[in-house]
This record gives sequence, C-alpha cells and structure tokens, in this order.
Amino acid sequence: MVILKTGRELKIMKEACRISAGALKLIGSAVEPGVTTAELDRLAEEYILSQGAKPNFKNYNGYPATACISINNEVIHGIPGKRKIKEGDIVSVDLGAVFEGFHGDNAATFAAGDISPEAKRLMDVTRESLYEGIKKARHGGRIGDISSAIQSYVEARGYSVVRQFVGHGIGTSLHEAPEVPNFGTPGRGIRLVPGMTLAIEPMINMGKAGVRTLADNWTVVTLDNSLSAHFEHTVAITPDGPQIMTVAD
Ligand code: MF3
Ligand code: CO
Repeated sequence: MVILKTGRELKIMKEACRISAGALKLIGSAVEPGVTTAELDRLAEEYILSQGAKPNFKNYNGYPATACISINNEVIHGIPGKRKIKEGDIVSVDLGAVFEGFHGDNAATFAAGDISPEAKRLMDVTRESLYEGIKKARHGGRIGDISSAIQSYVEARGYSVVRQFVGHGIGTSLHEAPEVPNFGTPGRGIRLVPGMTLAIEPMINMGKAGVRTLADNWTVVTLDNSLSAHFEHTVAITPDGPQIMTVAD
C-alpha cells in the first residue's frame, strides 16, 4: 500500500532529507586519494547526529555503518572500512537520516582526483538519468514513466541499467511501496498522486547489467567488473510538480 504524506509530514520529512543531503555533501567534499572509507563514514555519522537525527542504514538488516561506499566496479552496499581511496577511483556514496520518525535517502558518485573521461561520462549520464526520471514524477503520470525515462536515457548512451535493485517509496520507513525500477514501460504501473514520496535511484553500469553479491553478503559488484555509478534523490510529488527533498543547506 502506498502511504500518502500530509503537508505537515512532508515538512518533517524535508528536514530528514536536508540532513541526509548535508551528510552526502560533506562526504563528497572529503573524497580524495588517501582517505579511508571508514573515515568518510564517520564524518557523515557525526554530522547526522549533530543535527539531532540518526543514520537510518545503521543496523538496517544488520548493516554495520552509516553510509554505503562503493568504489569503481562496486555498485551499491560497499561497507566502509580500512580501504584507502585511490586517485582515479569513482566513489558511490549512499546514505540517509531519520528525523522525528521520517526518513531521507540519497546517493551520489564522486571522483577521487583525476578520473578517466570514460568514468566521468558514466557519472554524468547516471546523474542526468536521475533528473530525467524526476521530471516524470508528476501527478497524472505513472511509475513506468519514471522508469522508462531513466532506461531510455541510459541505454541510448550505451550503458546498462541494474535490474536486481530498484528505487522505492519512503516515509516512516526507509523502504515503502511502491517499487521504482529504473527500467520499464511508459503508462504502466501505479498512478502518481500528490503526497507520494519516492527515492529514485538509477544504478548504471558501463558494461553489462549483471551484478552479484560478494561473500560479505552486502557488497554488490558488476559481473563483468565494469564501472558502475549511482545517484539518488528523495522526491515528493506535489500539485506543482516534482519537489526534490534531498537538498543541502
Ligand atoms: N541505500 C539503499 C537504498 O537506497 C538502502 C541501503 S540498505 C542498507 O534503498 F542496509 F545498507 F542500509
Ligand atoms: Co534508496
């Protein structure tokens, strides 16, 4: 069941999203060669706590950290640790915060130092595909409009959409109905109405779409070891169109 949010609830959720975006921005500014992923995670956790919120991934299904930090061929759910970021890496960071019972969720891929033009283009296309999807998050449309906008943008540029993982509704839970796949057919799926809040999150591979999970039971990598990028916003559908909620100060 899709849970619609009232204006009052959206206001609280906006705060959770602002904090989520602030933490993501902070990590983004700290990504550089030599820093460990655990150091980045700690920065985000301290920021979220300082804002009176809590990291919402921590302990979710036993997940051990604030952020998921996934490097190069890692798609999502990389666990922060002692690994040092290297020059040329692309670093996907996904995190969120819960504030007064409401959740925010966002992700972005950052460059460590100088990266290859190919990696830069993958990041650009993935970010752009998120905005193509967000444009379709409008009253009167359907979930499939968002999904197909992302898919067609990405595939026209020679990349692949990950299918095993999808975006989602979000609110008093991190994951709510409906699912928001990054592939699909326009005009299909449930109707979009004001009060819906969606986490839209294309995960895009430079090579083939296949992924697998490593023995740590979390880290998802590309089957062909190609690079992968990930961008996510929490978005509200309003009478005036899509509102991106995960915006930092
Ligand atoms: N980042 C995922 C999402 O966007 C959730 C992470 S699962 C966790 O839906 F366990 F790592 F928290
Ligand atoms: Co999400």
